[in-house]
Amino acid sequence: MKNPVIETERLILRPLTMDDAQTAFDTWASDPEVAKYMRYYAHKNVDTTREWLKSVVANENSDTDYDWGFVLKETGKLIGSGGIYYDDADGMFEIGYNFAKAQWGKGLATEAAGAMLDFGRNTLHQTQFRGRHDIRNTASGNVMKKLGFVYEGECIDHMLEDGAERTVSMYRLSTPGKPENFRLHNGIEIPPVGFGTYKSTLQDGKAPILKALELGYRYLDTASFYKNEEVIGEALAECGIPRKEIFLATKMWPTEMGYTEAKEAFARSCEKLRTDYIDLYLIHWPKLNPQDLQWRQKIRDTWRAMEELYKEGKCRAIGVCNFLPHHLQVILDDCKIVPMVDQLELHVGYLQQYTLDFCRAHNILPQAWSPLGRMYFSEEPCLQKMAKQYGRPVSQLLLRFLNQSGIQIIPKSTHEDRMKDNMDIFGFTINEEDMHFLSVLPQIFFSKEFPDWAERG
Ligand SMILES: NC(=O)c1ccc[n+]([C@@H]2O[C@H](COP(=O)([O-])OP(=O)(O)OC[C@H]3O[C@@H](n4cnc5c(N)ncnc54)[C@H](OP(=O)(O)O)[C@@H]3O)[C@@H](O)[C@H]2O)c1
Repeated sequence: MKNPVIETERLILRPLTMDDAQTAFDTWASDPEVAKYMRYYAHKNVDTTREWLKSVVANENSDTDYDWGFVLKETGKLIGSGGIYYDDADGMFEIGYNFAKAQWGKGLATEAAGAMLDFGRNTLHQTQFRGRHDIRNTASGNVMKKLGFVYEGECIDHMLEDGAERTVSMYRLSTPGKPENFRLHNGIEIPPVGFGTYKSTLQDGKAPILKALELGYRYLDTASFYKNEEVIGEALAECGIPRKEIFLATKMWPTEMGYTEAKEAFARSCEKLRTDYIDLYLIHWPKLNPQDLQWRQKIRDTWRAMEELYKEGKCRAIGVCNFLPHHLQVILDDCKIVPMVDQLELHVGYLQQYTLDFCRAHNILPQAWSPLGRMYFSEEPCLQKMAKQYGRPVSQLLLRFLNQSGIQIIPKSTHEDRMKDNMDIFGFTINEEDMHFLSVLPQIFFSKEFPDWAERG
């Protein structure tokens, strides 16, 4: 790809030419104060600069190295150079720059580096970047931080020219993602992060619900089993947010399953929630207990009632929870409407891959309950280390992982700071290597609520 000319407020970033060699040598490469911070090219004479420029110019159409000369608009003079380079060892692009000493302290490095990063994001479509600087160069550390890089630690850099070594500070930047809605197979959009309400109203009643709504949550997950539908109904009536702006999901308990029973359960939930429609109505568990030999017929009857509720416009979507492929198949064999959602226990260390694959094959959106694994394993050193590299708490790493895996999440918290944290998961992107790592972590926690084993009344 041809290295493009980029314009910023005060600079023009343009490809370097062989004619730049003398300027580059005179104005920064020959100055020991500047050269000591340069990674590979502590030039001792202009011929070294020419050799360096030869390779830079020859690389102008490379897809892994992009170099620019920085020209100050005000004077039209070359005052620095820099670029963005793919580092095979790291598997990501690295950003670097050098300026003549007279230009230090004016914010020009931040301006140039920011423009090169935009190029990396928008044109090269990269999400992760590396930065490094000589440990003595604290000003460069400030530039990194201003651009959102997170400090990772120190390491020894081997300089190529004379075999010298230097200690460098390493930084990593992860590009923000976009909070995108999920789309159900009937076209309805749902927010990527919902608010779980199990046990959330026990202590302070409707207060946590009102707080969550105030903070911007627009998806509430409840169930007849949680015994908080009334409290949530009160909060909905009080919050001042139009009903149609809130996505409300509730569930029927296994004792409420059956054709007539399901319709009655739906009416009860609507009354308690003070609403005449539910956005997503769910079957909570596929069966009452292991002795329930009628579970297949009960699911068929219940689903028929749910399809009718949907067709009558009483729910905008219908789905299930904790249905494994053999439970889903009972519906699929007999249904007119395929479930839109399957809410499952899904978190790092428990990803139910077989069921996830089955859901995706049938266009059923997987939704994660206990997306934080109830924070039972947040002290795991490998998670702590990875979260630190992104400059985020472990909780956000866990949630962002599910989001990037195409799974909608409904974390629960009764604490305002945590509620905020749990929504603020889009300011970084987990790279592929770390996504892989998180997806294959061995099972650390599992609620033991297995759909075919539990006793539910
Ligand atoms: N369909 C089903 O069968 C089913 C089953 C279980 C749950 N669910 C739904 O899924 C929702 C979420 O699942 P869950 O409540 O079991 O587990 P979770 O959301 O994974 O974890 C909730 C726990 O983590 C803590 N927590 C939340 N955010 C935190 C943060 N940022 N930092 C540190 N700790 C944090 C909470 O404490 P604090 O509240 O003290 O902050 C709470 O103890 C439930 O509320 C419910 O709506 C559905």
